[in-house]
Amino acid sequence: MDFKLAWLSDPTVFSVGEMPAFSDHRIYASVEEADRDATSLVRSLDGVWKAHYAIRPADAPDALLTSADLDDTLADVAIPCEFQLANPQWDPPHYTNVQYPWDGRAALVPPQVSETYNPTVTVVRCFTLSEQEAAGQVVLTFGAAEAALALFVNGAFVGYAEDSFTPHHFDVSAFIHAGENRIAARIFKRCTGSWMEDQDFWRFSGIHRSVTLTFRPATHLRDLFVRTPLTENYTRASIDAELCIDRPIGQVRLLLTDKDGAVKLDETMDSAETLHIVRDVPDVALWSAEAPNLYTLTVILTGEDGEVAEVSRLEIGFRQFEMIDKIMCLNGKRIVFHGVNRHEFNCDEGRVMTDELLLQDIRDMKGMNINAVRTCHYPNDSRFYRLCDRYGLYVIDETNMETHGSWAPMHDWYLPGDKEEWHDMVLHRGQSMQERDKNHPCILLWSCGNESYGGKNIYDLSEMFRQRDPSRLVHYEGVANDRRYPDTTDVYSRMYYKAADIEKYLSSNPDKPFMNCEYTHAMGNSCGGMSLYSALEDKYPMYQGGFIWDYVDQALRTTAPNGAERLAYGGDWGDRPSDWQFNTNGIILGDRTFTGKVQEVRYLYQDVKLIPDSTGVTVENRRLFAPITGMQLKWTLLDDANLQQSGTHSIPAIKPGESAHITLPLMFDPSERNAALTCFLVVDTADGLLPAGFELAHGQTMWNNGPKAADAENNGPKPVRGDCNVGIYTDKLSAMFGRAEGGMISFRDLAGQQALLRAPQLSMFRAYTDNDHGNGDALREGIWHMVSRYSKVTGPEVTEEPGCTVMKYTYTCSLLPESPLTVTYTARSEDAIDVEVQWPGAAGQPDLPALGLSLQLDPRLKHVSYLGMGPDENYVDRCEGAYLGWFQYEVKDGITRYEKPQESGSRMGVRKMLITGDDGHGVMIEGDALEVSVMPWLPEELACVYHYDELQGSCRTVLDVAAFRKGIGGDDSWGAPVLPQYTYPSDKPYVLKFRMKAV
Ligand code: GAL
Repeated sequence: MDFKLAWLSDPTVFSVGEMPAFSDHRIYASVEEADRDATSLVRSLDGVWKAHYAIRPADAPDALLTSADLDDTLADVAIPCEFQLANPQWDPPHYTNVQYPWDGRAALVPPQVSETYNPTVTVVRCFTLSEQEAAGQVVLTFGAAEAALALFVNGAFVGYAEDSFTPHHFDVSAFIHAGENRIAARIFKRCTGSWMEDQDFWRFSGIHRSVTLTFRPATHLRDLFVRTPLTENYTRASIDAELCIDRPIGQVRLLLTDKDGAVKLDETMDSAETLHIVRDVPDVALWSAEAPNLYTLTVILTGEDGEVAEVSRLEIGFRQFEMIDKIMCLNGKRIVFHGVNRHEFNCDEGRVMTDELLLQDIRDMKGMNINAVRTCHYPNDSRFYRLCDRYGLYVIDETNMETHGSWAPMHDWYLPGDKEEWHDMVLHRGQSMQERDKNHPCILLWSCGNESYGGKNIYDLSEMFRQRDPSRLVHYEGVANDRRYPDTTDVYSRMYYKAADIEKYLSSNPDKPFMNCEYTHAMGNSCGGMSLYSALEDKYPMYQGGFIWDYVDQALRTTAPNGAERLAYGGDWGDRPSDWQFNTNGIILGDRTFTGKVQEVRYLYQDVKLIPDSTGVTVENRRLFAPITGMQLKWTLLDDANLQQSGTHSIPAIKPGESAHITLPLMFDPSERNAALTCFLVVDTADGLLPAGFELAHGQTMWNNGPKAADAENNGPKPVRGDCNVGIYTDKLSAMFGRAEGGMISFRDLAGQQALLRAPQLSMFRAYTDNDHGNGDALREGIWHMVSRYSKVTGPEVTEEPGCTVMKYTYTCSLLPESPLTVTYTARSEDAIDVEVQWPGAAGQPDLPALGLSLQLDPRLKHVSYLGMGPDENYVDRCEGAYLGWFQYEVKDGITRYEKPQESGSRMGVRKMLITGDDGHGVMIEGDALEVSVMPWLPEELACVYHYDELQGSCRTVLDVAAFRKGIGGDDSWGAPVLPQYTYPSDKPYVLKFRMKAV
């Protein structure tokens, strides 16, 4: 058969000459090889291949497929790779979300594929086979090729495959020979599959997973399906294994061992094409994400001579996942997903993942108390599931399908609907995933894909999943949009459903448990209000948690025009249409730097709660299966502003579901003072994943029972009154207040150095967040920018009493002439200026984003040390994970490097902050729960740039002291408002008070 270009636009042709999918167990030539996990049966073909690029298939020379003559003229590419990153000159990276990437470029309807733009890369390489290798069955596997692949070996057409995220296996035995062989693979960026791969991601093409040759032994375990039913109240386990053997000849030995090598099952039987074995396995430790107990199954096939022909290995976990009384249960217990959606992505290589990066993600997620991953929106590399099995993460494995652009907006040709010609492709995608992944204990649910509307085809897919594997449940969110086939999904799954709406659903005696397949949209500075979702966990048994959108920003590391390193997003390559920074929705940045969102997630996802009291701490183990072991308690006791005591304490083994109170040797009763007791659960001995000392959980209790800080007595100096200025001078204070500039124009540190660059400005707006733009606040609240920057300042009006001088300025904005603000500076002690900003309230105006004062300081002041909430940025609707303490940072790090700069760096509950230079001198502020940020940039500077690298050459330290800033929101980024409890209506009066001292 010959390859036909017409297949690219024929939805009924998506797999030609491919082998049917099979399980991803590993094969070896001997037990010794298996023990070393070093197989001689698989050869990697990763590395440098030759490549030819054409903008469309018609320009790709066919001679390349059949003859080696042109090979030397070709470019080099390192496989695996994304072609757009390997060579952006060929075809630059392109990002779109819902809209199909050809929207506005080519007027296409399914199943059409553009004939003028369809980047076509032909990759070739040679490999050599020995006589023995060439004599057996040889399978050539492309771990993943996006979006369609036509394979030629030694000039002959072998097969064609679509689906960018499952492996393509080709039996090339009939095409190869001993000696040198040549592979030519033609990869097309677009095919009918592209209509089914409208995920919100970079639109790459490439070979993004490994290419291998497998030399199958004379007898071979082709497929294996292991289930582990549990009976007698989960105390009795059995193994149920179905084996499919190619060329069965001798015998089959099944060996099951535990992690110490102890044999749990050892049985030998005659080989057959199919074998179904069900055996009891005594005394097993069950698998869960908390206690990922694995057993090793080894299947040894022998030849006629009794010699070992092939050894297969697979880790299995005994566990049972099921619906009990409308609740998803693992091993009989209600499960709550503390999940995250994770794109397989890295900022340097796109969807190509290294072993190190995969492990890093698992480690980081475990460290964030994440217990579940949805593989949005396609099956991942097999290595990922092995790590989830081993380290314990629940997985929703998702079919590679999204057709969002076909039904939003709705077209009469939306996909896949009930359309027969797309039916088999839909099922094939699900089948390729399920057959490969079916043995991983980590996978609890099969997902029918993402945002592909509803209909018969997807319902059939769900039924296929159930019939083949009744040991898991099926997930699909799209029935919320098309309710014709509600049984497609076993769980009621929604995305961006508000906490209040979830409560309504759960209070209405529903027939399915609820799960957020996507929630708390982490775009930019976001995840506000996440705690409202967490609060549902204890209230409604049928609330089973959710999956944050999403884990890592899909930003690509590149060099900006200014030469700086840039984490780039959509549109940065001139790619249009684009959805710009809409692919930066992670709780970590593209280069995997943590943001303040992690602080919140880690806390709200804790499965151990620490509740300090005046004598010690209650440690509550809320896990379902695992005791608390290998952990230590670290604690600190703060009294007023100072750390008084700290220590470590051992923790007794606490069983799941139980609590223990640990008495701490506190040197005073904190409940009688202004004090805070903070307890941390830290890793005692490194467990191979998290390092010793790692803080996995914390809890804090604060008491406010001490004497209130006394107001300063009126013992300030007499002012020095001039025509234009007023000065206040003591040994510890040097400040000047101007008339022309309108405010405090000088404030010197204790070394006599000027700290202030200009008079303070009002700060009643903020650099807009992505959420502010999405929900219209940016538009609504622009007036506060005007008020902050363009008010007429009059004053000072000086009032003098013995020991106290008040300098009052009045700010009137032309837009709000009826509501003048006042800023007063009061000198009533010898070492401080008291600052007060009064907002009188104004009717009919939008909410206040903030009430603050912005002080531009000399850039020499670059170190920050504060007592307040931290350590990372926190906001009124995202502060659960922050705690009161003394924290330090550098001014340059006071901004979070969101790829699109925006409001960031705020710290709430600040009681004291020092901003100092290298000589230790500078400025101190004190107050009662201030909200403060310090960074080198003004909000308008953040607002007017598109990338972090554009912020360069700052000549100031911007200290912004506020009474409050409104919440950041995060239910979604396309309309969800900041919830009312986190907003500040402008018709009420507010006051900001703080004290400034020289250091
Ligand atoms: C959802 C979608 C995700 C992502 C998100 C917005 O609708 O499933 O893939 O696009 O919205 O960031």
